[in-house]
Amino acid sequence: MIIVLLGAPGAGKGTLAGALKDQLGVHHISTGDLIRLEIKGGTAIGLEIKRYVESGGLVPDEVVTRMIEGKVVTTANDGKGYMFDGFPRTSAQALDLDKILTKNKLAIDFALYMEASLDVVLPRLTGRRVCKKCGALYHLTNMPSKKAGICDACGGDLYQRADDNEETIKKRMTVYNESTKPIIDHYKAQGKLKTINADGGADKVKSELLKILSEVHEKRS
Ligand code: AP5
Repeated sequence: MIIVLLGAPGAGKGTLAGALKDQLGVHHISTGDLIRLEIKGGTAIGLEIKRYVESGGLVPDEVVTRMIEGKVVTTANDGKGYMFDGFPRTSAQALDLDKILTKNKLAIDFALYMEASLDVVLPRLTGRRVCKKCGALYHLTNMPSKKAGICDACGGDLYQRADDNEETIKKRMTVYNESTKPIIDHYKAQGKLKTINADGGADKVKSELLKILSEVHEKRS
């Protein structure tokens, strides 16, 4: 199964992928995570792209597309499928993803648009905490860890992402509306768009995707 997760910052793409990737047996590919790894590692690419992320802008298409292509090329034959999270984010990236998958004899099953309202996503972002060690996602009030500041899964310290401050969040929302929201039409035109309401709790969102997946499987059988 190849699924593209679309939605505003804070819509819950990473949370949904984290909750379902093992159950579905897919690779979860998050460009945000890949980018933060490069930055943390102080690599040449990391140094080049840090400023885009810190300002809430987009990393250049060719840099992220190269990252995605590298991941797909090394896993295309294992039959597991993918959940793309945070990619594509521009029309050019959407076309690139189609090309990369076609080259590897793969195709997207559907794009899941996680529609969420602004008054829901803003507090999700300012209250988000992430495990430094394993990347698990928490929220100060929606999904708190059992022990404050400590990851339930691995005991790692939790931190607040540098771009989860109000000023950068505003910029990320503007960029989302201008560059990313329009690619919903790319998938609509291909007849591959599914939409869910992502304002509800994480369990509700997860069950909506599972419902779509069972409909897709039913249609195929
Ligand atoms: P990225 O890391 O992809 O950030 P984003 O798209 O802004 O998405 P978020 O991670 O903020 O939100 P999410 O939808 O995953 O929400 P989450 O599940 O964490 O990208 C960061 C930056 O990298 C970009 O700004 C850009 O600079 C660069 N970049 C990345 N990809 C790029 C690309 N393709 N091209 C160019 N540049 C790129 O949830 C948020 C919080 O809410 C959590 O605390 C969670 O616990 C809570 N929560 C989640 N779901 C629910 C729910 N249903 N109910 C209650 N709480 C919930």
